Amino acid sequence: MKKLFLLMLILGIGCTPKDPQVMHSSNNNPYAKKVDSLLALMTLEEKIGQMNQYNGFWDVTGPSPNEGDAAKKYDNLRKGWVGSMLNVRGVAEVRKVQKIAVEESRLGIPLIFGYDVIHGYKTISPIPLAETASWDLEAIQNSAQVAATEAAAAGINWTFAPMVDVTRDARWGRVMEGAGEDPYLGSLVAKARVKGFQGDDLSATNTIAACAKHFAGYGFSEAGKDYNTVDIGTNTLYNMVFPPFEACVEADVKTFMNSFNQLNGVPATGNLFLQRDILKELWDFQGFVVSDWGSIGEMISHGFASDGSEAARLAVLAGSDMDMESYLYIKHLKDLVDSKAVSESLIDDAVRRILLVKYELGLFEDPYRYCDEVLEATVIDSKAHHETVLDMAKKSIVLLKNDRQMLPLAKDGQKIALIGALAADKDSPLGSWRIAGEANTAVSVLEGLQVYTGNKLTYAKGADVTVGETSFVMESKINTSDTSGFAEAIKAARNADKVVLVLGENGFQTGEGRSRTRLDLPGVQQQLLEAVFNVNPNVILVLNNGRPLAIPWAAEHIPAIVEAWQLGSEAGHAIAQVLYGDYNPSGKLPMSFPRNVGQVPIYYNHQMTGRNTEPVPGLVFWTHYSDEANTPLFPFGHGLSYTTFEYSPITLLDDFASKGSITLQTTVTNIGNYDGKEIVQLYIHDLFGSVARPVKELKGMQLIALPKGVSKTVTFQLTHKELGYYTNEGKWLVEKGAFDFYVGGSSATTNKITYELK
Ligand code: BGC
Repeated sequence: MKKLFLLMLILGIGCTPKDPQVMHSSNNNPYAKKVDSLLALMTLEEKIGQMNQYNGFWDVTGPSPNEGDAAKKYDNLRKGWVGSMLNVRGVAEVRKVQKIAVEESRLGIPLIFGYDVIHGYKTISPIPLAETASWDLEAIQNSAQVAATEAAAAGINWTFAPMVDVTRDARWGRVMEGAGEDPYLGSLVAKARVKGFQGDDLSATNTIAACAKHFAGYGFSEAGKDYNTVDIGTNTLYNMVFPPFEACVEADVKTFMNSFNQLNGVPATGNLFLQRDILKELWDFQGFVVSDWGSIGEMISHGFASDGSEAARLAVLAGSDMDMESYLYIKHLKDLVDSKAVSESLIDDAVRRILLVKYELGLFEDPYRYCDEVLEATVIDSKAHHETVLDMAKKSIVLLKNDRQMLPLAKDGQKIALIGALAADKDSPLGSWRIAGEANTAVSVLEGLQVYTGNKLTYAKGADVTVGETSFVMESKINTSDTSGFAEAIKAARNADKVVLVLGENGFQTGEGRSRTRLDLPGVQQQLLEAVFNVNPNVILVLNNGRPLAIPWAAEHIPAIVEAWQLGSEAGHAIAQVLYGDYNPSGKLPMSFPRNVGQVPIYYNHQMTGRNTEPVPGLVFWTHYSDEANTPLFPFGHGLSYTTFEYSPITLLDDFASKGSITLQTTVTNIGNYDGKEIVQLYIHDLFGSVARPVKELKGMQLIALPKGVSKTVTFQLTHKELGYYTNEGKWLVEKGAFDFYVGGSSATTNKITYELK
C-alpha cells in the first residue's frame, strides 16, 4: 500500500448533511431587506406562484402536458401564481405578458423570462463544443456577451446556459452543448460563459442571469441514450462531474437547473444530497434552482414518487426552488404546507432566492427594463456581433491532419471542386438550439469560398445527409441511399486540382433527444468520400458535426482533415479563411475522437488497470480489444497548425516546501513557415494515490502567439490546487510521492519530467 501523507484537508465535504429545514441566509445581499418585506405581504398561494414557471404559448422545448392551455396560464398570471415564463421572446410579447403580471396581479411582482440562449440569440455563434475547441476564454466570454446583449434586447433576462455537464460519450446528442470531456477545461469555459452572460452588473440592459445545468450527472447517461439513468461512483462525481458546477458558483452564477436523470437511483430533481448538501450548504450557493422541463413530474415515471403530491414534496425538500412545466407545485404545495408535510420556511427560502435574482436583474425597479424596442431593432443581428462570432468561429476550427501540406490552398490558378450537401447548406451550421436564429441564414462554405475569386470553383452536391428530424418535431426522412448525384461529383473531382469535401451531420442530428448508436458519416457520405478519393486523392475533408465522429478510413487515406463543427452564422467565411490560410488554425479537440463506436466512452483522463496496456507477447491477458487499438483516432487536446511547434524538455523549480508551489518551464519554438498560435497544455499524473489517479489530468493551459522562427518560454505554477484531488469522502487531498508532469501540444504528449513531492 502506498505511503500516505495527508498534506491538506481543505474541504469538509463529507460532513453530516444539514437539516433541509434550516433556512438559507441571504442577509449579506443588499436586497435582503426588501425581499423580506415583500415576503411578509405575500399569501402562501402567491409565494408558491413564484415557484411556478410556465412555458410560453408557441415554442416548445419539451413534451407538452395537457394542462398547459393558454387560458389557464393567463388566469394564473392575473392571480399572481406565476413567477417565471420560458420561451416568450421579443419585446412586444414579453411586454404583453409582463404587463399582466405587473398591472393585473395583486402585488405586481415582475416575471423573470427564461430562454435557451445556448450559442447566440439571433446572431449564432459556434456550438459550445466547438467554442471550447478554441481554448480561448476571452473569445468565449465575448461570444456569450453577444448572446446576452441580443437576448436582453429581445426582452429575455435569463438564459438556461451554460450546460457544464462533462461528456465522455459521443453517442449522446447533447455533447454539442457542453465543453467536452475535461473538468479543468470545462471549469474555465464555464466561468468564461457565466461572466459573458452576467457581466459585472446584472441589472444592465445587456446582461442576463446565467444557469449552470444540469445538476448533476446528466452527461453520464448510460450508453449515451438521452434521459437514461446515471450510475457513477464518488470518485467520478467529485473529480469529474462537480468541478465545473462549483466553478459556476465561484463565478457567481445566479441560477442552477437540475437534471432529468437518476443519480445512483435517486432522480437529481429529488436529490437532497446534490441540491441541499453540496450546492446550497457546502458551496453556499445563494441563487435558485429551477427543475428541468417536467422533471418534478417525471419522478413518478422514474419509480421514485408515487404521485404528483409526493413528487412536489420530494422536490421541494431536496431544494428544487422552481417547477418548470410540471404544474405540481402550483397544484400541491399549498395542501402540503397546510398538512405540515412541507414547512412554510422551505417555501420562504425558495421564494426569497427567486425574488433576490429578480431584484438583482433590476426588474423591481423597472419591470420593462428589458423591453426597449429601439435597442431590439438596432442591437440584434448587428455587424459588430457578426464580427465577434466570425472571430469565435475561426478560433474554433481544429486542423486534424495536413499531410503533403495540402493546406492552405493556393489563392490563384487552381481548379477547386467543392462537394457535399453540407457545403451549400445555409441551415446546418446554425446547429441545434439556435432559438431566434433564422433558418437558412448562415454563410455556407460555398459562399465563403466564392469570396476568393482567384481559383475556378465548381460545386456538386454528391449526396444528401441523413436527416431523421429537422426541428424539435419529427419530420419525414430524406432518402439518403440516393447515389444519383455521385456521377456529377466524380466528374467535378476528376477535373480539379484539389477537392474540398464537406461532410458530416445535419444541424439537427445532435442536441436534446438526438442520441446515435453509430458515429460514422450518416447516409451514403462515406461511399461518396471513397468514390471521390478514387478519382482524385488530393482531398481536403471538412467536417461539419456536433459530436466526435469515428472516421478511421478518412484518417488513414485523406491527406487533410479540418474539423469545422457547426460554426454558426459566419461558418462559411471562417472555414474559407482557414482553408486559404488567412487564418492559421489553432483549435484543439475538447473530446477524444474514437476509432469506432465500440471504444466509447473513450477519454484521455482514464484510470489505469492492473494489466499492461501494451501487448504481452503470446498472451491475451492484457488490457485491450482484440479487434481495435486502445488509443483514440484523435486524442483530446490534438490540433495542428500550418506551422510546427517544437517543445524543449521541461525544467522544474521546486519551491513547494517554502512557497507551496512548483514551477515548470518549457520553451516552445515556431520552427515552421507561418506565424501561428499554440495551446500549450500541462498534464499531471499522480503516480500512486490512496484513491488511484487518472493517467493524465489537464491542470494548466496557455494560448501563445508565436511568429515564425520565434521561441517563447512558457511557465506554469503548480500549487495544492493542481496537485490534489477529492477523496471518495469528498475531502481535498494532496499526497506526497511521485508525479509525472507533461507539457506539450496534446494529451498524447510524451514530453515529461518526474518529480517527488516531499
Ligand atoms: C432541457 C433543458 C432546457 C429546458 C428548457 C429541457 O428539455 O433539458 O436543458 O433548458 O428543456 O427548454
